[in-house]
Amino acid sequence: MYLKTVRYLKENIPDEFTYPFSIPSLSTLDEIQLPTNITFFVGENGSGKSTLLEAIADLCEFNTAGGGRQHLYDVHKSDSALSDYIRLSWKRKISRGFFLRAETFYQFASHIDLMDEPEGIKYASYGGKSLHQQSHGESFLSLFQNAFGKKSLYLLDEPEAALSPVRQLSLMKIMKDLEEEAQFIIATHSPILLGYPDATIYSFDDGKIEAVRYEDTTNYIVTKSFLNAPDRMLDELFKEEE
Ligand SMILES: Nc1ncnc2c1ncn2[C@@H]1O[C@H](COP(=O)(O)OP(=O)(O)O)[C@@H](O)[C@H]1O
Ligand SMILES: [Mg+2]
Repeated sequence: MYLKTVRYLKENIPDEFTYPFSIPSLSTLDEIQLPTNITFFVGENGSGKSTLLEAIADLCEFNTAGGGRQHLYDVHKSDSALSDYIRLSWKRKISRGFFLRAETFYQFASHIDLMDEPEGIKYASYGGKSLHQQSHGESFLSLFQNAFGKKSLYLLDEPEAALSPVRQLSLMKIMKDLEEEAQFIIATHSPILLGYPDATIYSFDDGKIEAVRYEDTTNYIVTKSFLNAPDRMLDELFKEEE
């Protein structure tokens, strides 16, 4: 475990009404503890998961458009509005790692293509060929299988966006193989990934960030109810208003 706590310096924020300070889940945030090597952020769309993950990536000096420290490219790079108000405490400080966001993976792939290095070298960490020549899911998994290493911090924003259920399981196996030495913080909606054993799960719902059990996440409850009885749930959903 490397990153130990993420503290919100609420006493320093300029106001509570502008983004990102206006995000409800931040309003009651003091500190997030990261006691396990796998941490998940869950919550409704717009609940603030990406904003916080991006601030952490910024403070780690990973490019906030996605990538590690060595990947300094500017395509759609966004400044984190929150990082000035976050403090990270480390158990052991490390600089290796990766910030992966589904939306900017395309630009990341282009950045690798444009690197001024022989193909054998520049694609070595990505399955031996351009990420553009692999399907979205394949290229994601290539990255996970080849670039992920030990003693690193991985910040992943909705990695499941590109992955079939089977490949989500493959990702979990890769995480398992690295878990002893690498740390992951993953924002996700995937009821599969969230089932990772003994992970810490933080919910960003209801205007607060709090640890929850897997079985108590909305993701688990809704998916389970749906798969148990799709017809019943859809009948309810499609029912004409009286
Ligand atoms: N650059 C921005 N400027 C203003 N508001 C933003 C910006 N980015 C996100 N937001 C808003 O902040 C809230 C949290 O967004 P985000 O962190 O992306 O949520 P999540 O990742 O949980 O879906 C949302 O209401 C979103 O519309
Ligand atoms: Mg998001």
